[in-house]
Amino acid sequence: MNIIKNASLKQFNTFGIDAKAQSYCDVSSIKELHNVLKEYHSNPLFILGGGSNMLLTKDIEALVLHINLKGIEVVSSTENTVVIKAMAGENWHNFVLWCLEYNYGGIENLSLIPGNIGTAPIQNIGAYGVELKDVFLSCEAINIDDQTKRTFTKSDCNFGYRESIFKQELKGQYIITSVNIELTKNNHQLHTGYGVITNELEVNGIKTPTIQNISDAVIAIRQSKLPDPKEIGNSGSFFKNPIITAEAFADLELNFPEVPSYKISESAVKIPAGWLIEKAGFKGKRINNYGVHNKQALVLVNYGNATGKEIFELAQLIQLTVKRIFNIEIEMEVNTI
Ligand code: EPU
Repeated sequence: MNIIKNASLKQFNTFGIDAKAQSYCDVSSIKELHNVLKEYHSNPLFILGGGSNMLLTKDIEALVLHINLKGIEVVSSTENTVVIKAMAGENWHNFVLWCLEYNYGGIENLSLIPGNIGTAPIQNIGAYGVELKDVFLSCEAINIDDQTKRTFTKSDCNFGYRESIFKQELKGQYIITSVNIELTKNNHQLHTGYGVITNELEVNGIKTPTIQNISDAVIAIRQSKLPDPKEIGNSGSFFKNPIITAEAFADLELNFPEVPSYKISESAVKIPAGWLIEKAGFKGKRINNYGVHNKQALVLVNYGNATGKEIFELAQLIQLTVKRIFNIEIEMEVNTI
């Protein structure tokens, strides 16, 4: 195992923050992972996946383990479905493209989400009416302390909106090594209910879409709104969309009749945080080298050499302002370290 001291993490986080790791180790096999954990499990460890959902506000005084396990294989197949095992270090979007190549359906709406397979269950990634949990079968993980292997079924994971057991009770205890996903081989269930997808398909004259058409539509929509981390540092949605009570929503609607909303149940309503942030005047706001994206106010961006602390302070200011104007608390979705 090759351990590098005082390594820059700039290229390993999509925000492009130049924080340092006390030490860094790239792990590309399960055997290597076991060896590192055996030797270092009682030292401070920091598990790094695709680095697409974190904001580094300081240097990491720990051994950073970069999980680079690779491989995609079909583990079982029936006439209509297929189970695919993907290793944690595979890039999520490349995995989506691989599945499309074989006409395996179910994750086309999740095209172009940044990050890796191994981190997808942690926050139950989702977009355009589909979440990972809809196709997730199980994942394998290694306990950091005693290096035992454990399989988590879907119900073990306690998935919720951008939530799972790996963000809650088991935070920091397991390293996900692979994920098993069940997809369809034919009679794909298409999710075209989102207005933006319907529009995009219509604009392109597509009446009976394939999963490839849907993926193309999602890619076009995302590219038009969300900055490419290779060009502008960012971590996708920085905040979660808040869920408020029906009563609070009635009050909000009195003052802001134009507020967009999604009914969750008889007593709960989800409000797009992007709208609240835009309305609070932050959309497109730039301070030195960082700011709020001009096409999607839910995304904070690093234009150059901003520090994580600066971006975090902007996020706090946004939270306070949204609270003051709308009396709504918006929670950060990105992991701040
Ligand atoms: N809106 C504004 N101004 C903005 C942005 C949004 O008014 O600057 C309003 C608009 O009314 C728009 C609505 O918010 O119709 C919803 O916007 P959008 O479709 O862009 O979706 P979102 O709710 O802002 C969520 C996810 C995204 C996911 C999209 C599409 C969260 C935290 N974010 O964003 O996920 O791609 O829906 O399904 O749930 C991510 O998690 O990193 C991410 C990008």
